[in-house]
Order: sequence, then C-alpha cells, then structure tokens
Amino acid sequence: MKILVTGGAGFIGSAVVRHIVQNTQDVVLNVDKLTYAGNLESLASVHGHERYTFSQTDICDRQTFDRLIADFQPDAIMHLAAESHVDRSISGPAAFIETNIIGTYQLLEASRQYWNTLPDNKKQAFRFHHISTDEVYGDLEGTDDLFLETTPYAPSSPYSASKASSDHLVRAWHRTYGLPVVVTNCSNNYGPYHFPEKLIPLIIQNALAGKALPIYGNGHQIRDWLFVEDHARALYKVMTEAAVGETYNIGGHNEQKNIDVVKAICDLLEDLAPNKPQGIKHYQDLITYVTDRPGHDLRYAIDASKIQKDLGWVPQESFETGLRKTIEWYLSNQEWVEHIQSGEYQNWIQQQYRTEQV
Ligand code: NAD
Ligand code: DAU
Repeated sequence: MKILVTGGAGFIGSAVVRHIVQNTQDVVLNVDKLTYAGNLESLASVHGHERYTFSQTDICDRQTFDRLIADFQPDAIMHLAAESHVDRSISGPAAFIETNIIGTYQLLEASRQYWNTLPDNKKQAFRFHHISTDEVYGDLEGTDDLFLETTPYAPSSPYSASKASSDHLVRAWHRTYGLPVVVTNCSNNYGPYHFPEKLIPLIIQNALAGKALPIYGNGHQIRDWLFVEDHARALYKVMTEAAVGETYNIGGHNEQKNIDVVKAICDLLEDLAPNKPQGIKHYQDLITYVTDRPGHDLRYAIDASKIQKDLGWVPQESFETGLRKTIEWYLSNQEWVEHIQSGEYQNWIQQQYRTEQV
C-alpha cells in the first residue's frame, strides 16, 4: 500500500511511521508542517529508507496538498496532524480552529477530489482514517461509566471541541459524498518521543532537573493510559481491516489518578536514576500542587471491547512495563529532549507555570 500520513513528525504520528516502515512493505509519505511539536529526529530510524519520504507542508495549504496527493497516489490517508495540547488550546485557541477544523476540511476536500478520479476497484479500497481522541466525549462522573463508540459528544476544551468538529466533518463527508472513512478515538498515550509539555514526560524531565512537579488541582483526575506503540498497532489494524464508516474506541484498560502516575514515575526514578540533583532527598518531595486547568475534565475511561471483538486488538504493554521503558528511553535520549527544549519550549513553560516556579 501507499499510505499518506499527516502529522508523522509528532509523537503518535512518528510511532505510526516507524511501525509501518519497520513492520510492513508499505510505502509512506509523511506530510507535516513541523510546528513546535514536530521533530524529524523522532524519525531518524527511517530517514533515508527507500519506502519513506517526507514533505514539510501545512495541511491547510490546499494547492500544495493537491499536488502531493496527485503525485503520490495514496491508497490510504492516516490523518494525525493536529494541535494536540489542551493547555495551549486554552491560552490560544486560534491554531486549533485553523489546523484541526479548517485543516481537516481542506484534507477531506483534497481527498474527495482525488478519490473521484480513481477507478472503481481503487475507489472501493481507498481509506481516509481520521485519528481522534476520547476527549470528544467530555468527562465521566461515575466511577464505573465507560466511553462507548455511541457515547454522545460533549467536549469541554477548545482542543476537544475542535477535534469533535473534525470528527463530525469526517462522518459528514462519508454520509454525503461516500468518502470511505474510518474514525478512531483513543485515550492518553505515553512512551518515547513524547513532547515534554504533556504530563508524563514533563514530570520525568522536571524530576531529573530537580524542578517542581506540577499537579493541577488535587491530582485526583483520572486518565486511561496507553503505550504509544500499542496505539500505532491498533491504528494500522483499523486502517487495513475495519469496514468503511466504522468507529473504534482505543484504550489501555489502565485508569490512573494523575497523582498516582506522578508518584509511580518518582518511585521508578528512585531505582533508575538514584543520583539525584543536589539537595533532593526523594523525587516525591518535588510534588507541587498548582492552579487547576480551567474546565478540567475529571475522568476518562474507554470501553475498548469493540476493537478487541472485531479486530482482535489488545494492548501488549502493561502500565508498569510501559512506564519503565518510557523512563529508560528518556534517560538514554537526553540529547533528543535537549534539542526540543528550545526557545519556544522555554517560552511556553514560563507562560504556563509563571506563578509556580516550575
Ligand atoms: P503532536 O502534537 O505530538 O503532533 C502533531 C503533529 O502534527 C506535529 O508533528 C505537528 O508538526 C503536526 N502539525 C500540526 N499542525 C499541522 C498542520 N497545520 N499541517 C501539518 N502538520 C501539522 O500530537 P500527537 O500527540 O502525536 O497526536 C496526534 C493525533 O492523535 C492528534 O490528532 C491528536 O488529536 C490525536 N490523539 C492524541 C492522543 C495523545 O494522547 N497524545 C490521544 C488520542 C488522540
Ligand atoms: O485523552 C486523550 C488526550 O490526552 C489527547 O487527545 C491529547 O492530545 C493529549 O494531550 C492528552 O490530553 P490530556 O490533557 O489528558 O494530557 P496532559 O498530558 O496535558 O495532561 C494529563 C493530565 O495531567 C490532565 O488531567 C492534566 C494533568 N496535568 C497536566 C500537566 C501538563 C497536571 O496535573 N500537570 C501538568 O503540568
């Protein structure tokens, strides 16, 4: 297959590109704008591979995208390009509207125009796979409730509202124009190459630097964590095996309170990085409660039984093994982190945590 991946220089997109190039015979074109979150160093292991090419292109740039799609002639598009950080969407929603909504619209129109030119057999086989989030469902109050594929949308943040909008556009392009789409909604990913503005890599990096570990509110909010390579496998399975028009929820069966995640990282670091920065006795002493995120969703939890039943996918990594692997990766790849902790990253940290000395 020829697969066009958008956002392939990001955290999940790069895992998807590495998975496809290393485990299949498919050809990949990675289209990424390289925003602050995109990093070609995450793709060093496939750089120069004969089945991999890259184009630095904004998905909102329709003219360039039309040319790319006409030249590459994809059998499938996996759409991961997005603004993805909830806190950034609160302080600056414009980029989220632009990329997540307008960008997805431009991509759908480019795909539809291309798809209409295909012969019947290729037309039927073509897939537009939209990669979305469990945050479109809003949050769960009860402790037993789970997000199903049929749960009504109730997004809370500018980020999740923009992703919800893009999901609606994708489904409308299927129903109205017949574009063969599949949609996946996944829970929180973690693992190697995760940009250190998100909770798990931020905590690892701050702990190693002897800085405060910021917990929003009381830290009792719950997320379901999935190892990123398990997500990449699930996405490939859905893209190649799911029926047209289907939606799959993807999750790790692994609900954790934020405070427990942070404590687990501290405990693992005691073992894996015992030489602490000067003056630090225990990593947990760095835990600092800070101002809560506005509109903070309390609990996410996924029912992933449909993808298990239909496609036989289950996560391979447990949270214990996945978290250990992740911390070991950060300890061995400090150069990758140093390169992305550039000026823009410093500006974000100062703006976001300005009163807290994080
Ligand atoms: P990320 O922020 O790490 O990467 C996003 C990538 O998209 C970057 O490489 C960036 O350069 C690129 N990009 C941004 N705007 C672009 C534009 N206008 N044109 C082209 N490229 C652009 O994000 P991620 O965490 O890897 O998430 C990938 C996708 O998965 C997103 O759609 C996100 O909503 C979804 N998702 C993420 C998670 C998670 O836990 N991280 C969970 C579920 C779903
Ligand atoms: O659920 C899927 C979503 O998971 C994805 O769609 C998003 O792209 C991804 O960023 C992630 O969103 P979250 O907001 O859940 O992830 P984040 O890592 O930003 O925060 C995880 C939890 O930790 C959340 O409850 C907020 C909290 N938090 C986060 C940061 C950065 C803190 O307590 N302190 C922090 O400094």
